[in-house]
Amino acid sequence: MNGPPVIPHSRPSLGEAEAQAAADVIRSGLLAQGEKVTKFERALAKLTGQDEGVAVSSGTAALFLALKGLGIGPGDEVIFPSYVCTAPWHAVSQAGATPVLVDIDPETYHPSPEAVTRAITRKTKAVIVPHLFGLPADLSELEKLGIPIIEDCAQTLGASMGGRPVGSVGALTVCSFYATKLITTGEGGMVLGRSGPHMARIRAVRQYDERDALESAFNYKMTDMQAALGLCQVTALPQFIKRRQAIATQYTAILRDVKADPPAGIPRHDHVFYRYVVRLPQSVEPAIKAFAARGVSCRRPVFKPIHSYLGLPGFSGTDLAWERSLSIPIYPSLVEHEVERVVDAMREVLA
Ligand SMILES: Cc1ncc(COP(=O)(O)O)c(C=O)c1O
Repeated sequence: MNGPPVIPHSRPSLGEAEAQAAADVIRSGLLAQGEKVTKFERALAKLTGQDEGVAVSSGTAALFLALKGLGIGPGDEVIFPSYVCTAPWHAVSQAGATPVLVDIDPETYHPSPEAVTRAITRKTKAVIVPHLFGLPADLSELEKLGIPIIEDCAQTLGASMGGRPVGSVGALTVCSFYATKLITTGEGGMVLGRSGPHMARIRAVRQYDERDALESAFNYKMTDMQAALGLCQVTALPQFIKRRQAIATQYTAILRDVKADPPAGIPRHDHVFYRYVVRLPQSVEPAIKAFAARGVSCRRPVFKPIHSYLGLPGFSGTDLAWERSLSIPIYPSLVEHEVERVVDAMREVLA
C-alpha cells in the first residue's frame, strides 16, 4: 500500500549520545552491573526525592522486589486498581500474596480513595498506586490510611505533585524503563526508597553471588550497557517532557471543536503526557479503525482491565474508562509534520 508511513503509537527517543554511551561500555569490556548502574541509581534517587535506588531487569521485577522488601507474602493482601497492565497482578501473585482489585475514577484514571478504603482488611499490607498516563495521583487521602504506598512511576517521572516530586511519597517507588516508557534502557526497572532495612533486603535479593549464606536470592540485575542508555535518557528527560507538553497543547486546542474530552488535570500536579488519552462519548473501537485508515496508530491505553480477565463485577469506573478512552500517539521523536498528520486525523475522526 502506498501513502505516508504509519505513525506508530510509541517510539523511543534515542540519539547519538545513547549510541556513543553504549559503544563506550562495549569497548570498556565491563558489560555487567557496575559503575554505570550505580550512577543511574543515584540519578533516579535524585529525580524522585528518595535516598537510594536498586536497578533491576524490569518494572515487574521492581514491583515483585518492592513487595519482598516490605516482607509481603502468603496470607497478605495488596490493593491496586483493575485499570492497569497485568504487571502488579503477576508481581503480587508471584510474591504469594492475594491481589485485591479496586475501581478507579474514570476522569483521572487513579484508584479512588473511597474504593481503597472499602477494600482494606486486617490482612492489607500495601497499596500499589500507578501514576497513570503521566498524571501523578493525589496521594493525600491515601497517605492518611496508614498503609504502605508503593508508588508505581512506570508511566510518570519528573513531574511534581503538590510541590513534591512524583515518587517521593511512597514507602517504596518503582519504575519501568521498557522501550516505550518516558525514559528507556530497552528493558529495565528500579526500586527506590529511604535507606534502611527494606532497601537493604531488596539489594540483597537482586543477586545471588558472593553471599556468606545460602539465602533466598535470584538474578534481577541490570547491565552497565542499559544503565549507560538510562543516564543519557535521564539527562534528556526535561527536554522530553517539554516536547510532550508542547504536543499535548496542540492536541488539546483541536479538542475544543470535536466530540472528545481532553485529559483531566489535578490542581498543582504536572502532567508529563506519557500518553495523551481522550475520552469519547462512545466506544473507541470505530475511532481506532478510522485513525488506522489515516495511518495513525491509536490504542486503548490499557489492553484489558484485570477484573475482566477474572470475570469480577462492580468496576463501573474502570469499565467506562476502558470503553471510552483512546490513546493518541505522543512522544518527543514525533516530528512536526507527523504532529500535523495526527491533528488532521483528530479533526476528521473525532468530529
Ligand atoms: C503502570 C505499570 N507498572 C508496571 C509495569 C511493568 O513494567 P515492565 O514492562 O518493565 O515489566 C508497566 C509496564 O509496562 C506499567 O505501565
